[in-house]
Amino acid sequence: MSESKTVKLCEVDSLEPGNITTADIDGRTIAYARIGDQWFAIDDTCSHAKVSLSEGFLEEDDLVIECPLHGASFSLETGEALTLPAIKPVASHAIEVKDGEVFVTIEGDES
Ligand code: FES
Repeated sequence: MSESKTVKLCEVDSLEPGNITTADIDGRTIAYARIGDQWFAIDDTCSHAKVSLSEGFLEEDDLVIECPLHGASFSLETGEALTLPAIKPVASHAIEVKDGEVFVTIEGDES
């Protein structure tokens, strides 16, 4: 059974809409994105190779991040790998905005 942990990511005003960045939480790099007033968080490392998804291309209309190395697309909502060459998902994490602050809940190790 894995434990979950909720931590503050940032202030709402610290990330402009249409951007993605990362936070290190207990040695795990989380990519989090703001699209309009919606926030998303997924593991930052592409499931195809060890590349930072946050350095890829944010497709705001589709709520997708495209890997910068080989172009696989991942759902920001679920972490699902939507296009090849990635076939495995990345973990997605619940986000909550409260009183101008953004919190993420990380589930325990999935391995
Ligand atoms: S490293 Fe991301 S698609 Fe290959």
